[in-house]
Amino acid sequence: MAYPNLLVARTGAVATLTLDRPKALNALDPVTLDSLAGALREVAADAQIRAVVLTGAGDKAFCAGADIGAMSAMTAADGHAYARLGHGVAAAIEALPVPVVAAVNGVALGGGLELVLACDLVVASERARLGQPEIGLGLIPGFGGTQRLVRRVGLGRARELIYLGTLVPAPEAHRIGLVDRVVPPEEVGSAAAALAAELAAKPPVALRQAKRATAVAADADLATGCRYEVEAFAVTFASEDRVEGTRAFVEKRPPVWKGR
Ligand code: CAA
Repeated sequence: MAYPNLLVARTGAVATLTLDRPKALNALDPVTLDSLAGALREVAADAQIRAVVLTGAGDKAFCAGADIGAMSAMTAADGHAYARLGHGVAAAIEALPVPVVAAVNGVALGGGLELVLACDLVVASERARLGQPEIGLGLIPGFGGTQRLVRRVGLGRARELIYLGTLVPAPEAHRIGLVDRVVPPEEVGSAAAALAAELAAKPPVALRQAKRATAVAADADLATGCRYEVEAFAVTFASEDRVEGTRAFVEKRPPVWKGR
């Protein structure tokens, strides 16, 4: 399906979603958020897709955040609905049964960083800058940043970034655990695609359970998380791929995954 301000492409089992408003640095107006929500629903329903790459068009921005022009014309009630829309998109990324790789090809600010925070793994250009600059607009992060940034980099660092609105260069973002890999600008697309293809080749039942169980770890106490893990492990244990994976090891041959 075609979506305004969003390109959807498919290579093998990897879907690539590209925010496509480069003149506005891929800012997330309501139309773009609706497009993203629609494309994520489509991806979630397609069992052939095993990994997703999320990126931005052009070479300047992954996404410069919520659309400031649109926000300047919003009422307080509109702003409330806009936050719910953005939260829905971030939650939909997290809820996908397959991993999502953020390919941060330029700035990832405000709502842009909040999308990144909902992704599973983050590949960034060494020229990228990331941050939550909402404070400079008299706002706070509204698409999940106050919650996911704390979980990602810890309370002190998250507060510093949110209170001061400082933009973090990619190498520093890597040092504090905000991004996972930093590569030269011209390699962001290929590095993210290669990572997504590697993930897409993993046994999907186990990968899905790994995604869910590690997500539970961010919220649950240890005992609850460990109980969850036992059940998730049991799900993988009941899969045909577990039979194949363990048998292939014993028989000293590479496994052939069935995806079941
Ligand atoms: N919304 C709408 N338009 C934006 C935008 C945004 N978030 N960010 C950039 N643009 C537009 C600019 O208005 C400009 O448009 P025109 O050419 O029509 O004037 C175009 O994109 C290029 O931007 P700049 O000329 O500013 O480019 P630059 O290279 O000089 O600066 C930048 C780049 C530092 C990213 C700067 O654009 C900037 O600071 N943008 C705003 C970043 C920001 O504050 N993001 C947070 C938004 S609030 C939010 O996200 C709330 C939330 O959590 C839900």
